[in-house]
Amino acid sequence: MDIRATDTPLLEWTGDSLAIGLFEDAVELTGELATLDEKLAGSIKELIAEEEFKGKQGSSVFTRVGANSPVRKIILVGLGKPESLKLETLRRAAAAAARLAKKQKSKTLGISLAIWNNDPTETAQAIAEGVQLALYQDNRFKSEPEDKGPQVETVDLLGLGGQEAAITRANQISAGVFLARQLVAAPPNAVTPITLAETAQEIASDHGLQIEILEQEDCEKLGMGAFLGVAKASDLPPKFIHLTYKPEGTPKRKLAIIGKGLTFDSGGLNIKGAGSGIETMKIDMGGAAATLGAAKAIGQLKPDVEVHFISAATENMISGHAMRPGDILTASNGKTIEVNNTDAEGRLTLADALVFTEKLGVDAIIDLATLTGACIIALGDDIAGLFSPDDALAAQVEKAAEASGEKFWRLPMEEKYFEGLKSGIADMKNTGPRPGGSITAALFLKQFVKETPWAHLDIAGPVWTEKENGYNGSGATGFGVRTLVNWVLSDT
Ligand code: BES
Ligand code: MN
Ligand code: ZN
Repeated sequence: MDIRATDTPLLEWTGDSLAIGLFEDAVELTGELATLDEKLAGSIKELIAEEEFKGKQGSSVFTRVGANSPVRKIILVGLGKPESLKLETLRRAAAAAARLAKKQKSKTLGISLAIWNNDPTETAQAIAEGVQLALYQDNRFKSEPEDKGPQVETVDLLGLGGQEAAITRANQISAGVFLARQLVAAPPNAVTPITLAETAQEIASDHGLQIEILEQEDCEKLGMGAFLGVAKASDLPPKFIHLTYKPEGTPKRKLAIIGKGLTFDSGGLNIKGAGSGIETMKIDMGGAAATLGAAKAIGQLKPDVEVHFISAATENMISGHAMRPGDILTASNGKTIEVNNTDAEGRLTLADALVFTEKLGVDAIIDLATLTGACIIALGDDIAGLFSPDDALAAQVEKAAEASGEKFWRLPMEEKYFEGLKSGIADMKNTGPRPGGSITAALFLKQFVKETPWAHLDIAGPVWTEKENGYNGSGATGFGVRTLVNWVLSDT
């Protein structure tokens, strides 16, 4: 699919579907639109009246127009109130237009929405992202594709001539989101620690990043007892993935992104029972998927920032070699952990990943993890938890998230709750009481970061969607990639 920037006037564009954005309560047609309506024998006016279209944000309607007209279908998308127009409004409007065009078997689509904040560059990027995200289709595991027939082939962004670079950026970022979606959606017999490491190798060779894969013996030498404790029962070797993007010249900042990489979480000997969602636990590498997706995007965007992408990848399985509830593990910073629940495995793998990463001497670390069911209980499926002892870094993440349209909510790191993790025999237990479970998980991770500004993102909810969410059908969302990319590209 080809997205193009063009200055072709609305009245001269010809093709299958033309999508037009209208603001709320301003659906009387004036100027160019009135002329277009005349040309189309009043069908736009009729559509607005018949469907009682009011231009509300998130609404869309469409109609077929006369067989001989230069445009076959008209799509109207609501943009809400002009004063509350956001980039996300345009991104979602473009997504709605693209999905309608696909449903109508249109091969060509023209989109004319509005310019956000007098900024055609940000506008073009957001619209192109919306189109890309919405038209994504994953047929890898179907013997026959489900969406046979005509596909959207070209999309013209009207009134945005000259914005080719913004479209290219949107395409590069979308490629990162698609990689993350593919990794999360793939079953746990297809995405394993081995294939995750291979994917990282591919990113490195495709986009010129450095790569280091630490094998089990390497991790043993570094004393990664927490990570390796989790890996013990798997028949597959653990892989500690470290990708590095280095810009030419001196980097402005050095950053690190860590993703939880459990390619399957059975719970271990505290095995997940019926009704626990064990059959969905392929998603437990959603943090690693976002990390690799961001690496793919950053490798193409080439900012002046050094970025380390890290994941301690393994499975949490059961066997005679499995770590037992009650075992004490020693992490690579020397801290001892009494494993009172083998299903709280993500934090054990992240502990050693955080210690490793801090030694790289970066300016800030963000980790992403499908860490706790408690975070889903707190914030629901659409909002990720944001935890950070560092207000400035938390503000950076919030700003990056705002621009991406991905939703985060900051939760407190209430020190007092660490009491719930106190162990009579080791330095700490890996789980505390059920209340505040996502907070104690964050406090556990904090024990493995000494002084580097650090933020933890609990993405257990938004990595996956059961219902259509505007950008893709049900399934993997690629959540996190766009916020991470914005964070790396921001000037702060
Ligand atoms: N991977 C899960 C968390 C999770 C749950 C992610 C649902 C996505 C959807 C994590 O490893 C886990 O099992 N957490 C436990 C922690 C508990 C044992 C303290 C949980 O949330 O129940
Ligand atoms: Mn678990
Ligand atoms: Zn897990």
